Amino acid sequence: MKKLLKWLLPLIAMFALGFTQSNTHQVQAATSRLSAIKSRGYIVVGLSADYAPLEFHATVKGEDTIVGADISLAKQIAKDAGVKLQIKEMGFDALIGALKTGKVDMVISGMSKTPERAKQVDFSEPYMYEKQIVVIRKADKDKYKNVADFAGAKVGAQKQSTQEAIAKAQLPDAKIQSLQKANDVIAQVSYNKLDGGVMSSIIAGAYVQKNKSLMMVDPHFATSASPTVVALPKGDTALTAQVNKTIKKVKSQKLWAKWLDEAYTLQNQSDSFWTKYGSFFIKGAINTLIFALLTVIAGTILGTFLALMRRSKLWILKAIAVVYVEFIRGTPLMVQAFIVFFGTQVLGISLSAFAAGAIAMGINSGAYVAEIIRSGLNSVPIGQTEAARSLGLSNSQTLKSVILPQAVKNIWPALGNEFVTDIKESSVLSVIGATELMFEGSTVQGASFQPFFPMMIVALIYFVMTFALTRLLGVVERRFN
Ligand code: ARG
Repeated sequence: MKKLLKWLLPLIAMFALGFTQSNTHQVQAATSRLSAIKSRGYIVVGLSADYAPLEFHATVKGEDTIVGADISLAKQIAKDAGVKLQIKEMGFDALIGALKTGKVDMVISGMSKTPERAKQVDFSEPYMYEKQIVVIRKADKDKYKNVADFAGAKVGAQKQSTQEAIAKAQLPDAKIQSLQKANDVIAQVSYNKLDGGVMSSIIAGAYVQKNKSLMMVDPHFATSASPTVVALPKGDTALTAQVNKTIKKVKSQKLWAKWLDEAYTLQNQSDSFWTKYGSFFIKGAINTLIFALLTVIAGTILGTFLALMRRSKLWILKAIAVVYVEFIRGTPLMVQAFIVFFGTQVLGISLSAFAAGAIAMGINSGAYVAEIIRSGLNSVPIGQTEAARSLGLSNSQTLKSVILPQAVKNIWPALGNEFVTDIKESSVLSVIGATELMFEGSTVQGASFQPFFPMMIVALIYFVMTFALTRLLGVVERRFN
């Protein structure tokens, strides 16, 4: 019982701390952010760039850029407020959370106004209206015409979107599949994985034009057009007023139609696959290597400390190390990445997705490396310690000159494996928007309307990296022996 308490207390303290922190934060959020934006000189807009022509990736002057009508609107808002624009890309389902924790100042992501969201955030005046339709394969033209025809069909929609809600409520006899990205819906319909996808007509229209095997049907959902709005922090009237001022201007000067046209042009530019997307893969691969490298370095330092703490005679050090290792190994990296990304924000530290991802990976890897080092140390027979001690060496001398040199031989290969694992594991960080290889690959999937080919390239790049590294480590290992 006492032993259990020793472990539980630090844990409880940790959670209690987190709790009070998140409470104080909500009080702070009540004051306007407009002045903070102005003094820092830039506005942070959150979005999910999978929604052409509103927000999507395109190659502009050889560079991967987020473009679209929503981006033009965001630029206009920033310009009218006299500040620069910074875009933070993340999954659509993470946007409201990001806004509530202050990760972003506003969300401009084709977001519809709904009563549920209105409980959490405030909205600007609408700047567009969305009509919801279903995308199907042309071959199924006669099969799906009305809502009732979708009974038993597999229908997809983007996670946490109004389309998902409509699908669930109005196609109760269909099997609804929620997907991370809006383009995934299209891709899965065209690849026969889904029979239909609920989408906004303006988005689907752009896709259907490109993909000749698809078409739109209007099954007459019992929902009128949904207003598209900017989402803003709750109760921030000054910021909302500022945004509404811009929207009013956009309407009176008919800017929206012009911005949509510009977006269509960008969407339909015709370059070869490689000129368009080659840079995405290169950038992703480099960042993945950087992530993995940072992770082994941080993990090794942290893991060494943890392993030594675990051997310590002080129970508190030992307990911290045990709780840490067990907790980290008992929770998924993806969850840890979210906790670091949003948790630091709650504590008032604004980290980029890249920094948060690297920290989460380091924290995660530290636990595994600790175990690698611990078992490496343990693998040295106890007789060695006894012999060294009887020769008059101190405890730390024994560790340094007798145990460690032998342990390293066992630790090295496992540490190398950890490096290889980190290269692959970092793919999880795409969920918080860290621009590693997986993230870049799925961006290409969306932008190119090709769900399969980009992932094959991604797989090949991962393989080349891990295979080369394994070989390299093998050479070093043989040298050791
Ligand atoms: N209008 C829908 C909603 O508010 C979908 C928006 C999706 N936006 C995006 N960038 N993927 O739920």
